[in-house]
Amino acid sequence: MKSKSGTIATQPTPGDTSWFVDARFGLFIHWGLYALPARHEWVMQRENMDPRTYRRYFDHFEPDRFQPEQWADEAAAAGMKYMVVTTKHHEGFCLWDSHYTRYKATEAPLCRRDLLTPIVEAFRARGLRIGLYHSLIDWHHPDFRIDDIHALRDDPKRAKMNEKRNQARYAEYLENQITELLTLYDPVDILWLDFSYPSARKGKQVFTGKGRNDWNSRRLYRRIRELAPNIILNDRLDMPDGFDVVTPEQFQPRTWMRHKEKPVVWEACQTLSGSWGYHRDEQTWKSPGQLIRMLVDTVSKGGNLLMNVGPTARGELDARAQAALRVYERWMQRHGRSIYGCTQAPANWTVPPDCRLTWNPGTHRVYLHVFAWPFLHVSLEGWKGRVAYAQFLHDGSEVLINREPLKPVMRDAGYGDQDLILELPVRQPDDQVPVIELFLAPAGT
Ligand code: GLC
Repeated sequence: MKSKSGTIATQPTPGDTSWFVDARFGLFIHWGLYALPARHEWVMQRENMDPRTYRRYFDHFEPDRFQPEQWADEAAAAGMKYMVVTTKHHEGFCLWDSHYTRYKATEAPLCRRDLLTPIVEAFRARGLRIGLYHSLIDWHHPDFRIDDIHALRDDPKRAKMNEKRNQARYAEYLENQITELLTLYDPVDILWLDFSYPSARKGKQVFTGKGRNDWNSRRLYRRIRELAPNIILNDRLDMPDGFDVVTPEQFQPRTWMRHKEKPVVWEACQTLSGSWGYHRDEQTWKSPGQLIRMLVDTVSKGGNLLMNVGPTARGELDARAQAALRVYERWMQRHGRSIYGCTQAPANWTVPPDCRLTWNPGTHRVYLHVFAWPFLHVSLEGWKGRVAYAQFLHDGSEVLINREPLKPVMRDAGYGDQDLILELPVRQPDDQVPVIELFLAPAGT
């Protein structure tokens, strides 16, 4: 299916991304046993814990404040149109009642219930699309061969332990569980698999990782498409092609993402603070302005933003995460129009400094997002005559354009006769990022 992404035509892919590129904004949820140690979702690996040591989190997991309806309410209020939730992270613990393991929520002694079904139901009930994250990596499974990023990588008995491990059997477990998930939760809109790190030689050193042969990616891929032909599949199976979305994480792309030089559908995934799982002491929480600018910046380059929360061990979004979602809520209530259905503006439209443009090819409106508030004027070089009307998005008040012929002093000051000059109030409107909506003149595109 071909995706609708405005002027830039992205590569056609097998899955249906048409709803996805309109939706633009989703919620990532990382929830698992790592919420208990609360010091990064990789804690098992970082602290070289064997599954027996890690089991204390399984034994003490008691999500007594778990109310997924509340998460879904907060996500919907923030303007998010879809969610992606971890069914299993690298630690191996499963949130649903899988037939293939006992390392799951329904067996954890203080939990004893399926957590995934109520999450999926709560978000569906609020009209959000459903994505399932599933870890290819599994540091708990006895057949998963110990590689250079495994929790047991430094164990002196590593080679001995590996003798008994049968990676092909693990690949079957993977396929069975993914089949189970796509069946139980059908229709699943997104399957988000994570991640490959193929073996590599660096000079004399050899890095032992995992890639397509270890997951049996080709077979898995066929199975996924067979079960869910329209599903959106991400790009982490270590396959050269066949995926629907490219997923840069923890940085902002400078331009529209490409694969083999061609523009592709893409989604940046980001954290509110530095880790994905609940991290009690993490201090690098992004500021309100940064949160909004990251969303705008992403859409201005034709991408989606998947913003993450890590619920606590008791099953709640903590106050910091709730406050961040409220930042989005406040802004999105009045500015959603510059996000949904919008994409990168055509390349020949000049962008003023400290600004980002998005445009809606369906309505022919362009959105000027002002990141740093200037004094009195913002000018769009060479845009004269392209815009019929301009207004602030937050209150629908007119923004005057090119009111008088350009005064000589303005020309001397660098403004041009062909520029579109907007007259702004001295004080920035009370929004993190004010937006001016420009109605293109009929011949303006
Ligand atoms: C990484 C990490 C992981 C996180 C994911 C999200 O690959 O391993 O902890 O879930 O990215 O993109």
